[in-house]
Amino acid sequence: MKPNKIKEKLQGVIDPSSNKTLGELNAIKHVGVDDNNSVILIAEVGEKDNETTKQITRDIAKIIKLDLGFKGVKIEFQKRKTRNKNAKTLLIASGKGGVGKSTVTANLAYALKRMGKKVAIIDADIYGANMPKILGGVDHKLMGTEDSKVYPFEVDGIQMVSTEYLVEKKRALMLRGPMLGKILKIFFEDTLWNEDIDYFLVDLPPGTGDVMMDLKNFSEDAKMIIVTTPQASSAHIAIKAGYAAKDLSQEIIGVVENMSYYEIDGKDHYIFGQGGGKKVADELVVDLLEKLPIVPSETPIYKESDVAGMIYLNLARKIMKKY
Ligand SMILES: Nc1ncnc2c1ncn2[C@@H]1O[C@H](COP(=O)(O)OP(=O)(O)O)[C@@H](O)[C@H]1O
Ligand SMILES: [Mg+2]
Repeated sequence: MKPNKIKEKLQGVIDPSSNKTLGELNAIKHVGVDDNNSVILIAEVGEKDNETTKQITRDIAKIIKLDLGFKGVKIEFQKRKTRNKNAKTLLIASGKGGVGKSTVTANLAYALKRMGKKVAIIDADIYGANMPKILGGVDHKLMGTEDSKVYPFEVDGIQMVSTEYLVEKKRALMLRGPMLGKILKIFFEDTLWNEDIDYFLVDLPPGTGDVMMDLKNFSEDAKMIIVTTPQASSAHIAIKAGYAAKDLSQEIIGVVENMSYYEIDGKDHYIFGQGGGKKVADELVVDLLEKLPIVPSETPIYKESDVAGMIYLNLARKIMKKY
């Protein structure tokens, strides 16, 4: 009897820890038969407790021995890796592109990490994905396992996946509605995230719309931060994005004003004008969380000791208080 046939016969067995069948869970990872005519299995379970493994072993043994006539069965149980159910999802949004949404996402990830949190980034900026560039993971490949799970890129303990990894280099990603849902499914459900992640930061495309709608399927309790620059034009569009989010019952934690000022010899220069962040915050009736300086820097991640790095720590603290 072929291993595939044996597997087929076991698909109806129930995993009591998830109350689903092994077939539904795609839980059987390996089937073999040894020299003594015993079946060897590797099975993934929701919980690796006694009750679960005993019941599954009993049900499988019945089929393997009585129905299929094998001499015995050895099962190795593995606990299924799942996303931490208590993990929080922070959506980083903006009205316009180019306001520093990705820079804020990456630096906030580092700040939360410096505050002792485990952080992951989902780069869902469909057309403008640049997180691999910011974090130095451009050459990473999304390697799939046999049952089509993917491994995220990891740097400094921060895990990340990006739409960038789903397209061939030098080709733009063209998406229609259902594709978007599929991509989000890969990121939220089929990625082998560390199980102890506290915060998932999602770098959204500029504006709100399709992605937000689809996101609701994967993370109901997500909260949003809106990034704007001080410029009126940026603020104007950020307000619209904020209202669109509110229309979708999306809770907004607050606003971050990026590129607020440029400091020279202790004096702040408001190169892009002033007030954009406050305007957005007031209009949406949320807090203006921080104003971030313009930092002409080759490396987009600020150090903990940099002025900007310290402001990001404050931002992280405020966010942790609220969510
Ligand atoms: N506070 C800042 N100071 C100086 N340059 C910044 C700042 N924030 C972002 N940038 C730069 O501006 C550009 C756009 O930022 P990015 O984070 O990619 O924006 P978005 O994700 O909103 O499109 C990048 O080149 C980035 O390095
Ligand atoms: Mg970006």
